[in-house]
Amino acid sequence: MIKAVRGTRDLLPPDTALWNFVEDTARDVFRAYNFQEIRTPIFEATELFARGVGEETDIVAKEMFTWEDRGRTFGEVIADIQTWVEENKHSAGPFDLKKITDQLRSDRRDGQSLTLRPENTAGIVRAYIEHKMWDRGLNKFFAIGPMFRRERPQKGRYRQFYQIDAEIIGPPSAGSESPARDAEILELVATLLDRVGIKDWTLQLNSVGCPNDRAKFNEALRKALEPVVSRMCADCQRRATTNPLRVFDCKVPEDQPIIETLPRISHFLDEGCRNHFEEVKGILKAVGVDFVENDRLVRGLDYYTRTAFEFTHGALGAQNAILGGGRYDGLSEALGGPAAPGIGFAIGEDRLVLSLGKSAEDVMRAPDVYIAPLGAGMNREAARLARELRGADNNLVIELGDESFKLKKSIPTAEKLKSRYVLIVGENEVKADAFALKHLASGEQVTVPRAELAQRIVQK
Ligand code: HAM
Repeated sequence: MIKAVRGTRDLLPPDTALWNFVEDTARDVFRAYNFQEIRTPIFEATELFARGVGEETDIVAKEMFTWEDRGRTFGEVIADIQTWVEENKHSAGPFDLKKITDQLRSDRRDGQSLTLRPENTAGIVRAYIEHKMWDRGLNKFFAIGPMFRRERPQKGRYRQFYQIDAEIIGPPSAGSESPARDAEILELVATLLDRVGIKDWTLQLNSVGCPNDRAKFNEALRKALEPVVSRMCADCQRRATTNPLRVFDCKVPEDQPIIETLPRISHFLDEGCRNHFEEVKGILKAVGVDFVENDRLVRGLDYYTRTAFEFTHGALGAQNAILGGGRYDGLSEALGGPAAPGIGFAIGEDRLVLSLGKSAEDVMRAPDVYIAPLGAGMNREAARLARELRGADNNLVIELGDESFKLKKSIPTAEKLKSRYVLIVGENEVKADAFALKHLASGEQVTVPRAELAQRIVQK
């Protein structure tokens, strides 16, 4: 038997109702905060993540699904050029050999390293640059979709998992640097978690400063690590020289007492970063969003500057971060774009669903009516009626039975589906143009003329 690959899983009904509930709620909240959807490809050039997320991060160093895409054959390049000429024949004017040879040269015939996206921020910033979206001022994006990391699978950790991502990005002149945006994003998350019914979350908040602060901090970290690093794990020994900040990602229990003694970024923030952080906290207090400061929180991606945060939830065990995010004021420049400060977060949707404490039945919409055709030729009548009812009220949920079922089979089927009503469509009913409507919970049965059916079913 062929099974789903390790670390991936099928999301099946009825559980998918929980996923729909979460995504519908998220879309409602994003609409209320004036965010718009963006969809970027599931795979990108490997270089995007190496430069964006950082070579030394666990994500890039160990967890990416990367492959070498084969280059195009000579025949494929020629075919592409033909298509290009065909598509451009009206705009290109007279036959332009130079344009065609330029196109030939710019076409890659060699292969390219590609990677399944391990996260969405780098792809969204790439799209921002590629489509020159600074012209629109401040952009408020959201995206929902699968991400891929080759991590060791366990509860709440998968190799294909889903994120609900939001990003605010734009030129500084559009206010993208303002602490008001950080607070808005955090307050949005609190609203979303409240609306899906997750109560006991904790917002862990830190500022990881700007590149200047980071340089001083890294220097101090290197010094502090020197005498102790030989007692730490191999990863930390490497990080101590390449990117000392990443030592804080270490999960090895024996290293933790050493990490506890290391200097913290909070002591290295310059005045601008300190003021920015104070303002974020001030707005959060004003709007009543609780947080705890955690100056060990550095996040597992290199692009963060200033505000960094995670929302944790006790029910999740070891993988307790429902979501994480922060500011990435230098990411656009690192990817070759203009200055475009930004802040965002990504919810681990798998973890959010795990923390809901709801069952699929709590959020599912059962059928309003089960139409039971009784006897030969009644499937047609039932289908006509179903079409009329759906047309009368597009909110009705209607399930259709089959004329080969007897009433003895139709009623239990409707009960199993938790339908509110059973509508009986037999020869006599069709002749009279009035149908038996049975309310399953009370057992009450009435005959309702065709024209009044929809109204009667909607009434409850
Ligand atoms: P991240 O902390 O790497 O941040 O991931 C965000 C969330 O995705 C985590 O808190 C967790 O809930 C979920 N997650 C990560 N890995 C897995 C996994 N293997 N299985 C299940 N869930 C997982 C980012 O990805 C950033 N792009 C967030 C961001 C957006 N920062 C700014 N904007």
